[in-house]
Amino acid sequence: GFNVSKLLKTTGVVTYDPGFMNTAATKSAITYIDGDQGILRYRGYPIEQLAEHSSFLEVSYLLIYGNLPTATELEEFDQKIRRHTLLHEELKGFFGGFPRDAHPMPVLSSAVSALSTWYQDSLDPFNEEQVELSTIRLLAKVPVIAAYAHKKSIGQALLYPDNSMSIVENFMRLNFGNPAERYEVDPEVVKALDLLLVLHADHEQNCSTSTVRLVGSSNANLFASVSAGINALFGPAHGGANEAVLKMLRQIQAEGMKPEVFMDKVKNKEDGVRLMGFGHRVYKNYDPRAKIIKKTAHEILGKLGGNDELLDIAMRLEEKALADDYFIQRKLYPNVDFYTGLIYKAMGFPEKMFTVLFAIGRLPGWIAQWREMIQDPEMKIGRPRQLYVGEAERNYPV
Ligand code: ACO
Repeated sequence: GFNVSKLLKTTGVVTYDPGFMNTAATKSAITYIDGDQGILRYRGYPIEQLAEHSSFLEVSYLLIYGNLPTATELEEFDQKIRRHTLLHEELKGFFGGFPRDAHPMPVLSSAVSALSTWYQDSLDPFNEEQVELSTIRLLAKVPVIAAYAHKKSIGQALLYPDNSMSIVENFMRLNFGNPAERYEVDPEVVKALDLLLVLHADHEQNCSTSTVRLVGSSNANLFASVSAGINALFGPAHGGANEAVLKMLRQIQAEGMKPEVFMDKVKNKEDGVRLMGFGHRVYKNYDPRAKIIKKTAHEILGKLGGNDELLDIAMRLEEKALADDYFIQRKLYPNVDFYTGLIYKAMGFPEKMFTVLFAIGRLPGWIAQWREMIQDPEMKIGRPRQLYVGEAERNYPV
């Protein structure tokens, strides 16, 4: 009940667009999405082709530098990242400072934010050499920080990274290895995790990426901006959805509830229940990433012997939803998170780590978008307008 013409008199003409449903805040040459057709491309390459032929390292290079690397460029990029995996010993003290049962996402965002205190030489966003160094440091250290947050939460020793291993191999070892034994890498699991990271690597102006850009638009450094992005990703409507999906599936299983009964609750919007892992702001069709992941879920659960019952429940929910008018009319399809949790769980990650895995995947996208913004001559500080609906001027009672 507010008076629009009065508002326009006081604010001038502004667009009112809650959730930025129809506002392009930037031009970008990184990721293309056609939500109606379910198309996703990084730098022009279809996600299906990258999923089949590329690696997370290569996709990171592609997103950040704009083109696929030559073999030599990829090798150099890999070597540079491997050289920067160690954390400052004092940064490791952080992990003892948080409660043991802390969620690893705020631990990760805090430690990434703290990188600004150790690398004071790289805080100038317009110094290209320093930005390059921050880029490499983030790609190298974020997986290590994430693994340490996990290790600490289960009371196990923090291992030093082994730079003879790839990013993903190292990450698995830091999470699941122990100092007393040689860690045997399972190439199939590494390949599956690498693929999941590729699928998460960028998604144009989503909530966390827009956050990274908004924070960076004040010329805040890359560590500060990425740390903010991690916090944005923490929310259950964004990256936290993969964890929420698994909770939902486990609850359905524990209560022995029929998927139909759960679907009725969703459709009647009982207690605000949603079918987690369904729906997307941009995709009004099957999320192309979910298609690829569904196949991986079957392969990896077949191999690792994950919880088949949960996968069955997920498949039955999907089948029901795709045939249901409520979902059809609202164009709600599975999104990237619908099957990822099941895979992460089968790999041995606790639920709290799921969103952290998303953050590791999205990291090259955040970096690429931040760098694109900083180099954009049209860049301005992000500063939305508002429609003021509060009290008119009133006098303090004396
Ligand atoms: N289950 C049931 N109903 C849904 C769902 C869902 N998962 N998603 C949307 N709807 C319904 C809404 O109730 C609404 O119905 P109405 O018109 O009768 O009120 C309609 O569909 C439109 O929904 P909005 O919330 O307006 O759509 P929006 O684009 O704002 O939301 C979002 C997108 C947040 C992803 C939403 O679909 C959702 O909450 N999904 C579940 C959480 C999830 O899986 N998030 C992961 C997103 S992907 C990612 O971050 C990688």
